[in-house]
Amino acid sequence: MERSSELSGFYKLSIDERRKVIRDWAGLTDEEARAYDFPPGVAPSLIDRMIENVIGTFPLPLGVATNFRINGKDYLIPMAVEEPSVVAAASHAAKIARAAGGFSARTTPPIMIGQIQVLDVTDPAAARHRILIERDALLAAANKQDPLLVKFGGGAKDLEVRVVPSPRGTMLVVHLLVDARDAGGMNAVNTMCEALAPEIARLSGGRIVLRIISNLAIYRLARASATFPRTSLASGFEPSEAVVEAILDAYALAVVDPFRCATHNKGIMNGISSVVIATGNDFRAIESGAHTFAAFQAKDGGLVRPLTTYEKDKDGNLVGTIELPVAVGLIGGATAVHPTAKANVKLLGVRTAQELAEVLAAVGLAQNFAALRALATEGIQRGHMELHARNISVTAGARPDEVDAVVARLVEEHAIRIDRAKEILAELRAHPHA
Ligand code: MEV
Repeated sequence: MERSSELSGFYKLSIDERRKVIRDWAGLTDEEARAYDFPPGVAPSLIDRMIENVIGTFPLPLGVATNFRINGKDYLIPMAVEEPSVVAAASHAAKIARAAGGFSARTTPPIMIGQIQVLDVTDPAAARHRILIERDALLAAANKQDPLLVKFGGGAKDLEVRVVPSPRGTMLVVHLLVDARDAGGMNAVNTMCEALAPEIARLSGGRIVLRIISNLAIYRLARASATFPRTSLASGFEPSEAVVEAILDAYALAVVDPFRCATHNKGIMNGISSVVIATGNDFRAIESGAHTFAAFQAKDGGLVRPLTTYEKDKDGNLVGTIELPVAVGLIGGATAVHPTAKANVKLLGVRTAQELAEVLAAVGLAQNFAALRALATEGIQRGHMELHARNISVTAGARPDEVDAVVARLVEEHAIRIDRAKEILAELRAHPHA
């Protein structure tokens, strides 16, 4: 009989009942089904309330990056990521930066943008003025929605009105600027935009459609910089001056070429997203904001810009900077309820969302520097190879006491393949003392 994905009432089932349905559907073995088990310390009832149709959790590896010193304070940084080398690379870059004092990082106030879209306005320029004249009353009405946020110094702070041509005619786009303090801001901003919409419709004489936060948080920026001392950049192959020049060469391609820029910025997000995930924040929001910001920065020419810059200082050291929107929160969302996220926030020791954003900017810069350094010297594969070989060995069935020997052979032979790992494993088992 053909299987139907129409599982009526699936959402009403208990987790165990849902698992049974899934097992039958997919023909999972007992062992396969055990992969959905909840780790100790993570209450199934809590996870069941976080999203719909829960059957389990998806445990990503969680590692800790060491050596980070940011604004004179030391941090251990939890990173949740599936990709080998990311944690090691961040730790290594932080060690190099540490030699020159570590990272300096700052944020702008945590101002988010909410958008209210208005169509069918007959006199857009005049309507814009009518809305702006009512600025104070509109901000007060918005702030009535969230007295607690206002009490903590946040809330609606300003209004902007843009006149935007579109395929559906000229639109007004009202931007409500909201200081979200230690929250991501999603709920506060969306509630305020929905509350203001009828009055905006009245003032403009138009028709409202969207009332939603923008992930292009250009007012909520995090910036970090670091000096990577020239003397610590020599590789086994090249003198330090040549490494600095090669990193600047690699960076220059990201400035002029979107194909390289995409990869350059991806490397930055390897670091940032890992920490965003570990702290239970919305990594899609951060990713979308970062990549759109990178394009937004290029409005004066080109398609997209690297989120980092690199230069040489007068002593020939490499100086890196990063700037991007970082709309993360510490209150609300998964950060406040997920036990692993809560433990990670405590491990990080950040007291405010802005401090977390500063850490994220520093990690992004560290990750990018590490990638550029590896690419500009020995290439990325060498570092990746051993970790990759380790994964392959385990997949091939190597026990913990066998892994090192299999890895060593795979790397030596430059043949990091599962079939070869199996052969080596068979040889080792046949001749354990060879
Ligand atoms: C791989 O995940 C990230 C890199 O490709 C980044 C880069 O090329 O800069 C190594």
